[in-house]
Amino acid sequence: MAHLIDGKSISALIKDELKVEVDGLHAQGKDACLAVIQVGEDPASTVYVRNKKRACEYIGIKSQSYELPEETTEDELVALVKKLNKDDEVNGILVQLPLPEHICEENVLLTISPEKDVDGFHPETVGKMCIGTKGYLPCTPAGVIQLLKRSGINIEGKECVVIGRSNIVGKPMALLLLRENGTVTIAHSRTKDLKEITRRADILVVAVGKPKYITKDYVKEGAVVIDVGIHRDENNKLCGDVDFADVVDHVSAITPVPGGVGPMTIAMLMNNCVETVRN
Ligand code: GUN
Repeated sequence: MAHLIDGKSISALIKDELKVEVDGLHAQGKDACLAVIQVGEDPASTVYVRNKKRACEYIGIKSQSYELPEETTEDELVALVKKLNKDDEVNGILVQLPLPEHICEENVLLTISPEKDVDGFHPETVGKMCIGTKGYLPCTPAGVIQLLKRSGINIEGKECVVIGRSNIVGKPMALLLLRENGTVTIAHSRTKDLKEITRRADILVVAVGKPKYITKDYVKEGAVVIDVGIHRDENNKLCGDVDFADVVDHVSAITPVPGGVGPMTIAMLMNNCVETVRN
């Protein structure tokens, strides 16, 4: 039977560690404050934003919420980000994605001051991660690294295959695994013989965005499988990119959906918020 990598309890532990640290920083007069901006009412975004604010409250990080209407223009959003960049009360700025189609995400993310870029999406932050300079790490890939480390799974020298090449997950995931001395392959929608490549993996990170796409025949026996996907299946139940029931008896460890990677993203965001007031 595979080991279930329990993101819920690992994230709870991290949040408790951060809470203790935040209490200590507060005693020194240092308080973190996260500004969260949501444009429009995408239901998934509303849930994520609510969970982020709750996590702030639990840990003792202040938060400010900006819920802007769908019709907000790019100029208006950029102006708000610029105002928050200058606001000394605000240490971290998060613009929830996706943005409505009429707003260019890149323009908005470029406006966020790198010092306040707790999502880790600004090109300067990405560049620092790429060359290994200290800086904010993107939350989901950093959460995956924590899941592996805190489950006692060694990355060094392992064959790591990441399926997906998005700027938010796939690309930074590959870089962070490389930083841990994994031997990394990035596969994607145009990859030929995907199964042949994924079956090499000791550690397989799946971010394909297709429900239950990865079945046992994509996975080497005894591999570690990390599932970044989240979807609703035909019975309206949450599921990942991995066909969990098919794969579970074939692997050594796997993340469930829900309760795997998802809660880690928020825990790592909280870590970045605390990072804004460390030192
Ligand atoms: N949308 C989906 N994931 C994320 C995330 O990690 N940060 C932000 N800002 N938006 C998202």
